[in-house]
Amino acid sequence: MKRAYVLVIVLAMMVSCASAAFYGKDSEVINLTPKTFRSEVYDTNYTTIVEYYAEWCGHCKNLRPHYAKAAKSLSGLAKVAAVRCDDPSNERLCAKANIKGYPTLKIYRPSKRAKSTPIVEDYQGARTAKAITGMVLDRLSNRVTRLSSAADVEGFVAQKEVPRVLLFTDKPNTPPMFKVLAIDFDSSARFGIVRKADKALQKRFGVKKMPTVVVVTNDEEGEEEEERAVYEGEIKKEQLYEFLSGFATPAEGRLKGVVPANSPQRYGLDSSHDEL
Ligand SMILES: *[C@@H]1O[C@H](CO)[C@@H](O)[C@H](O)[C@H]1NC(C)=O
Repeated sequence: MKRAYVLVIVLAMMVSCASAAFYGKDSEVINLTPKTFRSEVYDTNYTTIVEYYAEWCGHCKNLRPHYAKAAKSLSGLAKVAAVRCDDPSNERLCAKANIKGYPTLKIYRPSKRAKSTPIVEDYQGARTAKAITGMVLDRLSNRVTRLSSAADVEGFVAQKEVPRVLLFTDKPNTPPMFKVLAIDFDSSARFGIVRKADKALQKRFGVKKMPTVVVVTNDEEGEEEEERAVYEGEIKKEQLYEFLSGFATPAEGRLKGVVPANSPQRYGLDSSHDEL
């Protein structure tokens, strides 16, 4: 009698666990496998955070909603991924990462030297969406050139082989979204940030307000005629990405995620990062 009762409870628990995948289709967390780990985490210039977890682990369950929220808020800016270590097929992946407890969070970012393995760092911060998001944004590679004088700007703009994307802003730090756009269009455009533009410089580039994004191009041969396109749209990652696609080619394609690329949820969900 008692035994049957226990069995019923165990069965009920199994059913309830099986029905809810840890990070399901509605979440933006990328579920990594031995097949995808390398391409998602190593062969990329984006920053990735990986959670190594086990489904039975209580702290992992507590972290889950925060981690899913971080994934949403980092959508289009960085990759948020997870490896389920109590799945036998991921055993070697977790052993290789030297995972000693769950959850373990590691941040992978590309090394500055070409073709070398990423820099890996254990995330030791608070297990909240805000803290995780903040740390990942802090670890984005920065390919944006700081232009602190009119001479700097002219020197930068004079590099005619590829379009030059200038951000005029009064923000003290390079906004994460702009850093990621520089990764998105790596090698087919150059990105520069101008913080203190005097009237003459603003006039030269058609800047009427802060922030303003201007793309400077030259004709096919990189010859004389300089063209300037001032971005007039909303300050949203997706829209800026579309705009810049008119001038340059994305290097890795769109940041992949679980949510379809054309879904309105895909980018800019967390408006706090839609800032330049
Ligand atoms: C990452 O950036 C470097 C330097 O621009 C480039 O050579 C490399 O191809 C990029 N990697 C990927 C996967 O796009």
